[in-house]
Amino acid sequence: MNCENSAALSAKASGEAVNEDRRGFVKKLTATTLALGFVGAVVECGRFLKPNVLYESPKVFKVGELEKYPFGSRTVIEGKGVEIVREKDGIHAISLVCTHLGCLLKPVDNDPGVGYACPCHGSTFTLKGEVLGGPAPKDLPWYEMYMDQTGALVVDASKVNQKRSKLVV
Ligand code: FES
Repeated sequence: MNCENSAALSAKASGEAVNEDRRGFVKKLTATTLALGFVGAVVECGRFLKPNVLYESPKVFKVGELEKYPFGSRTVIEGKGVEIVREKDGIHAISLVCTHLGCLLKPVDNDPGVGYACPCHGSTFTLKGEVLGGPAPKDLPWYEMYMDQTGALVVDASKVNQKRSKLVV
C-alpha cells in the first residue's frame, strides 16, 4: 500500500466517523424531540382532564369572635369585599363592592359625611351605604349576619339584609 492509498483510506475512515457522529446526533435530537413532544402531550391531556374552573370564595364565612370588634370599630375583611361595622346598637356587614362597576371601595375615616369612596370613578357612599354621589346606581347592600353555636360571627354574603337590621349582640 502506498502513501496515497493510505491517506485516502484515512480520509474515508475519518469521513465515516463524521457521518457516524452526525447520525448519532440526529438520532439523539429526534429522540429528545419525541420525548419532549410526548411529555407535552401528557401534560396537555392532564390539563384537559382537569376542569378549568375559577373557584369563587365561599359566600358564607366566619369573621371571628365579637371581642374582635370593639364599639365604634370598622373592620375590613380582607379578600371578602366586606366591612364589619360595630356600633352601640349592633353590628352589621356591609359590601365594599361598588354598585357601579364593581371596584373595591375604600373606607373613608376623615370625612364624617362620607363612609366609602370608590377609587375608580369617584362614587361616594354614606357609612350606611347610601349613594352620595358619582355614577353608582344603587346603595351598598348589607349582608345577613349571625352568631353560630361556637360564638363566632358569620357573614352570609349570599343573602342581602333587606331591612338593614343590625345584629344585636
Ligand atoms: S366602579 Fe365605583 S364608581 Fe365606577
